[in-house]
Amino acid sequence: MNDVVHLERVGATGLIGLNNPPVNAASHALRQAILEAVETLEADPEIDVIALYGKGRSFIAGADIREFGKPPKDPWLPALCNRLEACAKPVISVLHGAALGGGLEVALGTHARIAVPGVAIGLPEVTLGIIPGAGGTQRTPRLTGIPAALDLITTGRHIDAEQALALGLVDRIATGDPRDLALQAAVDVRRGDLRTRRTGDLTTKPDDDALAETAAELRKIKAHLFSPHRCVEAVAASTLPLQEGLARERALFQNCLDSPQRAGLIHAFFAERAVAKIPEAAATPRDIGRIGVIGAGTMGSGIATACLLAGFPVTLVEKNADALERGQSAIAGNLDGAVRRGKLTSERRDTLDLTASTDMARLDGADLVIEAAFEDMEVKKQIIKQAENICPGAILATNTSYLDVNDIAAAAASPGDVIGLHFFSPAHVMRLLEVVVGDATRPEVVATGFALAKRLRKIAVRAGVCDGFIGNRIMNHYRKAADHLMMDGASPEQIDAAIRGFGFAMGPFEMSDLAGLDIGHANRRRQDATRPEAERYVAVADRLVEAGWLGRKTGKGFYLHGADTGPNPDIAPIIEAERAHHGVSPRPFTDEEIVARYLTAMISEAARVYDEGIALRPIDVDAVLLFGYGFPRHHGGPLHHADTLGAARLVERIETYATEDAHFWQVPAILRRMAAEETTFADLNREG
Ligand code: 3HC
Repeated sequence: MNDVVHLERVGATGLIGLNNPPVNAASHALRQAILEAVETLEADPEIDVIALYGKGRSFIAGADIREFGKPPKDPWLPALCNRLEACAKPVISVLHGAALGGGLEVALGTHARIAVPGVAIGLPEVTLGIIPGAGGTQRTPRLTGIPAALDLITTGRHIDAEQALALGLVDRIATGDPRDLALQAAVDVRRGDLRTRRTGDLTTKPDDDALAETAAELRKIKAHLFSPHRCVEAVAASTLPLQEGLARERALFQNCLDSPQRAGLIHAFFAERAVAKIPEAAATPRDIGRIGVIGAGTMGSGIATACLLAGFPVTLVEKNADALERGQSAIAGNLDGAVRRGKLTSERRDTLDLTASTDMARLDGADLVIEAAFEDMEVKKQIIKQAENICPGAILATNTSYLDVNDIAAAAASPGDVIGLHFFSPAHVMRLLEVVVGDATRPEVVATGFALAKRLRKIAVRAGVCDGFIGNRIMNHYRKAADHLMMDGASPEQIDAAIRGFGFAMGPFEMSDLAGLDIGHANRRRQDATRPEAERYVAVADRLVEAGWLGRKTGKGFYLHGADTGPNPDIAPIIEAERAHHGVSPRPFTDEEIVARYLTAMISEAARVYDEGIALRPIDVDAVLLFGYGFPRHHGGPLHHADTLGAARLVERIETYATEDAHFWQVPAILRRMAAEETTFADLNREG
């Protein structure tokens, strides 16, 4: 017997302990081993009840996602679930840790389910671009009814043991060691205290209204996604006889498996986890007790909120008393919001430890100081020096968006303690954290940055030092492509709509209005001195700033944000004047062309960022754009998307665009190499 299961006979109970760390994914080996174990125990005359439980941290976290896209190997998960259900002896399952996707489907194939408090139960397949494919869409509605099944399957949300019991997905909640609970459940089955039955013998009560309502809602909110709609079709088939419904589910599952969205969403799943694999992973993170935050503006108060929500005591320092007060009320507002959304209880809120002061000396005792002051090199250097004097030995983090972390570190007596922690606004909401590693940053300081991100429930990505690090550097580039498109004939609203059509929640001009046009303006002024002469400069946004139109905060930017909404009618003359000034004759662009240029610019700079070693792997770049810049998850990130286009096609595109602007459109060396060698970014991810 394969050692991914541990087969035991305890009296008349046959125990199957699942042992496929870390999460008992239902790999081919595990499926095979469960099947053999069940058949062995079914044939054993000494055994009258069979029980499945997970060793380690979970029952089964689902099908092995790494096997998707590879040729399927018998036994398939659906066959295993059907075999469990058909078993002549009662089979029970004990769910702890995670019973997700195929894991829940295995459990639904058994004849009774015990849930251990703390278990996460769900069918999250839709988040991976597929549908439950091992009977989940057929057996769930038989137990819960169609509305609850639709909710679980189309949202992919996890539920806890109590909710699962209330829905009828599990039969009992019990606390204890999963193996002990399995043995006890077998006793209860024998005594008649625990009912066993085959889910497939039940029927689903038809509910056409619920199906129609969900289908209509999904057409509204998830029109661009493939699998949510297939989920509804599969659940609809659950009123058919089981075998027919399962066949329908299988066909729909296969459609989803073949869809490019599946590949993109699974890439995003692994991107979220791959970024934690850093060279400094072996270093021991330092203990962080109190965190100091310098600067109480939007970033500082957001960072302080994030740290408080994670349970850290925080000292917030701001030299201006009014600004400090504004920061404190912003934090209070953020925490109120967290209570309202159920992310924080009122009782816990009362225990949060925030000290606010205008006196830097109050930072004394902090183990980590994060400066979120004005984006100015001299200001930042001064602050780092002062903080180091007040908290010797503390980690000194700068939240700069663009500035040279090595330069900032040089101001410290101990540059090895200096690191960049680049949060994204609003810092208590956005999941991305760029951990910027300077030349001198010590490995344990980097490891501490990653450990902090984990506590803050953020996704940390390791970035090297360059202007804008990974994300802002790439954004600067594709933002210019949007400006060029505007100058050459596309309107801001056409560009925004085209980019939304690709799946972004917002287009670049809508984003500028949201962030505030003064932000981009300040950045352009910072770059004035180093901007190459050959670079095409688009001054439209500067004209808006000069007119006092800073976007949402002033009620007017590229769009109107007051009583009237829609495109700002005063923009067109500004654009026309700029075109006239540069002798540009506008031409029409199709939405496809807009998307192609925008993404090609993004991919080009993303490729350079990886090639220069600023990002460790292509998948790290994808993670930054996915979790910090709204790149649509189903496209997997810019470099995953680049693979779907192919390096040769991208090189050809860039060369065509270069006939118009040879400075902006340069073929990145890495893309040229990849085109010649016919390789992909996925190959580079595998290498390392
Ligand atoms: N397949 C393969 N690997 C998996 C996996 C799976 N289903 N689930 C988790 N892993 C891997 C992770 O990639 C990670 O690997 P790494 O250490 O090499 O990076 C490791 O297991 C640990 O995972 P996490 O870091 O995510 O651990 P957490 O404790 O934070 O979370 C979890 C555990 C909640 C189970 C989370 O891993 C998770 O959500 N997993 C995916 C669950 C899922 O989507 N299941 C459905 C799969 S599709 C399916 O079942 C199809 C079926 O209907 C036919």
